[in-house]
Amino acid sequence: MDVALKTVSNKAGERGAIVGGCTFVGRWLISWMTWELSGKVSINFKDPSSLRILTKCLLHHDFNLTVEIPEDRLVPTLPLRLNYIIWIEDLMLSIDKRDNIIGLDIGTGVCAIYPLLGVIKNKWKMIGTETDQRNFDLAQRNVTQNNLQHLITISKNPTDTLVEYLFTENSDLMFDFCMCNPPFYSNIEELCESRSVARPEPKNCFTGSLQELITEGGELKFIRKLIAESKTFKDKIR
Ligand SMILES: C[S@@+](CC[C@H](N)C(=O)[O-])C[C@H]1O[C@@H](n2cnc3c(N)ncnc32)[C@H](O)[C@@H]1O
Repeated sequence: MDVALKTVSNKAGERGAIVGGCTFVGRWLISWMTWELSGKVSINFKDPSSLRILTKCLLHHDFNLTVEIPEDRLVPTLPLRLNYIIWIEDLMLSIDKRDNIIGLDIGTGVCAIYPLLGVIKNKWKMIGTETDQRNFDLAQRNVTQNNLQHLITISKNPTDTLVEYLFTENSDLMFDFCMCNPPFYSNIEELCESRSVARPEPKNCFTGSLQELITEGGELKFIRKLIAESKTFKDKIR
C-alpha cells in the first residue's frame, strides 16, 4: 500500500520528490508546471502532454523505470494501475501464494504498465498480450530498455481470442492470475456518449487511441468471451 500512497501523494506535498527524483525528464516536467505565489505547484491534468510527462516522471522516480509513451496512445493513470496490482497482491496473499508468481495481462498497452509494475514491485513474472502492432512493438521496447525481458514476455495476439491463442501456441503455459483492463466501447458514438451528464466533469483529459478503447461488442462481449475462455482453460490457472 505504501507505494501507491507515496505515488498519489506526490501531487500534493512532494514537489521536491517529483522534481528532484526525475533527473532525466525533470526539466520537461518543470516546464509543464504552474507555480503559484504561495509556493503551490501544480500541473494541468487537462493537458495530455502534462499527464504523459507526469506518468513518465513517477515511473522513473518511484520504480526506476524509463518508459516511452507516444502522443497518440493511452496514458496510464498510475494510482489506478497500482490499485489493481495491490488488489492482486492481496488475492495472492489470501491463498498464501508468495513466490514464483506468473501473471497474464490481456491487452498490455504501449507501456506494458501492469507487467512492469508487477515485476518491479512484486518480482512476479508476467506475460502481456497485445493485438495492436504499434502497442506490441512499443511495449516490447519499453520492456527491453528496462532490461526486464527475462521476466516479461510481450506476446502478439494474431486472433480475436483472449487467452485461447496462448495455449494453442504453448500448451505448457500456466498462470497464477489473469488481469485485464479491457477496451470499453463498441463504437465511437458509445465512447462519446458514455459519461452520464449527472456526473461531474472529469479532472483529467481523455487519452487513448480508438483501437485501444473500442472493441466489437464493447466491454460486455469482451468480458463474456473472457469468462467463456477461462472456463475452457480453467486448468491453466494454478
Ligand atoms: C484499455 S487498453 C489497456 C492498456 C493497458 N493495459 C492499460 O491499462 O493502460 C486495452 C488494450 O487491449 C488491447 N486489446 C484489445 N483486444 C485484445 C485482444 N483480443 N488480445 C490482446 N489485447 C487486446 C488493445 O490494443 C489495447 O491496447
